[in-house]
Amino acid sequence: MSIHDCTILDLPRINDPRGNLTFVEASRHIPFDIRRVYYLYDVPGGAERGGHAHKALHQLVIAMSGSFDIHLDDGSSKKTVHMNRSYYGLYICPMIWREIDNFSSGAVCMVLASDYYDELDYYRQYAEFINDAVKVIK
Ligand code: TYD
Repeated sequence: MSIHDCTILDLPRINDPRGNLTFVEASRHIPFDIRRVYYLYDVPGGAERGGHAHKALHQLVIAMSGSFDIHLDDGSSKKTVHMNRSYYGLYICPMIWREIDNFSSGAVCMVLASDYYDELDYYRQYAEFINDAVKVIK
């Protein structure tokens, strides 16, 4: 898996004058089952989140409100995705270093994850991540 697998998924939208509705169904709209949901909010201006990679976790990131930038790096290629629509989800496969910044005021970043929180699934050191990433890039 590489950065090319990290794509924006266009989630279903039910437009309605009373307000729009979007839904996500595990294994139908996204390529994994959901075991955990977490969200970042009240992010101060200039703050950065992320700064790690996961060994096996699959995630979908949605800008529920506001906007932010996600910088992705698979050890070979890099790209930045600007998230600013609550009907777009960025799929992040395992073995991707990510950093999130440029949060707008009031931004909410929701993450759907394929497994429970497990610190052992993290790479917290970029050098350690790169060392293993070069082995898995085809
Ligand atoms: P971290 O994943 O480093 O946050 P981010 O990627 O958003 O910058 O997690 C920050 C802290 O929160 C860390 O101490 C682990 C804890 N945490 C949990 O306990 N459960 C969770 O589901 C998550 C995502 C983090």
